[in-house]
Amino acid sequence: METDPSIEKDGRMRVVVTAGPTREHLDPVRFLSNPSTGKMGYAVAQEAAKRGYEVILVSGPVSLPTPRGVKRVDVVSARDMLLKVREALCGGGEQVLVSVAAIADWRPKTYSSKKLKKSSMTGVIELVRNPDILKTINSEMRRGKLPKAKLVGFAAETGDPLQEAARKCRAKGLEFVVANDVTAKDAGFAVDTNRASLVFANGNVETLNLMSKRALARIIVDKL
Ligand code: PMT
Repeated sequence: METDPSIEKDGRMRVVVTAGPTREHLDPVRFLSNPSTGKMGYAVAQEAAKRGYEVILVSGPVSLPTPRGVKRVDVVSARDMLLKVREALCGGGEQVLVSVAAIADWRPKTYSSKKLKKSSMTGVIELVRNPDILKTINSEMRRGKLPKAKLVGFAAETGDPLQEAARKCRAKGLEFVVANDVTAKDAGFAVDTNRASLVFANGNVETLNLMSKRALARIIVDKL
């Protein structure tokens, strides 16, 4: 696979971070998405760059400035994000993918390049599954189609965050999952603080107190 020349490897450990939402368009003016602002993912990218890692931030549409020392690649849909993550991991060497993005699991089955007329819409939108980026990257690495990378995920939960996070950790081949309860007012989407537990592949759990997303990013980058 061709590597984007702007993201050629430069010898340092590469940290690829995904952040923000994806948008799954029905037509040029309508899309399915979620409330992610990119705050958590950008904090991880900023912290990794501060430690001297080479950082590639694959970002969905957000209104945050690019952190200093970070190479940012903008994408819109989950399928675009998968392509850019793959390119970013093609270089080999020591590398980690931290998937903070809130990636849409479904997209409209059809896309109209012209704005759909209200009168032509039935009120029903047929959806098809998007690829699961972490699962796809894990499977391609195992089959030798992509160089090895350590994988770290997030889990946005509204029920029992720890059990679900442990399941995701195993299913997606992750080193650890950062589980956050997105129903809490001071955690999850669009706020500057987060409350999370780190759930490791070996079953260990570290439960963290409420803290700023910058502070949580420092703890996550310490573990890389
Ligand atoms: O951006 P902010 O406003 O700061 O909000 C931060 C956040 C709430 C988005 C973040 O803290 C968070 O929880 N991100 C993960 C959101 C999510 O999609 O969780 P999930 O449980 O649906 O997915 C589990 C993991 O699989 C995640 O690492 C996700 O990036 C990844 N995934 C999900 C779907 C998909 N199709 N492919 C994936 O790789």
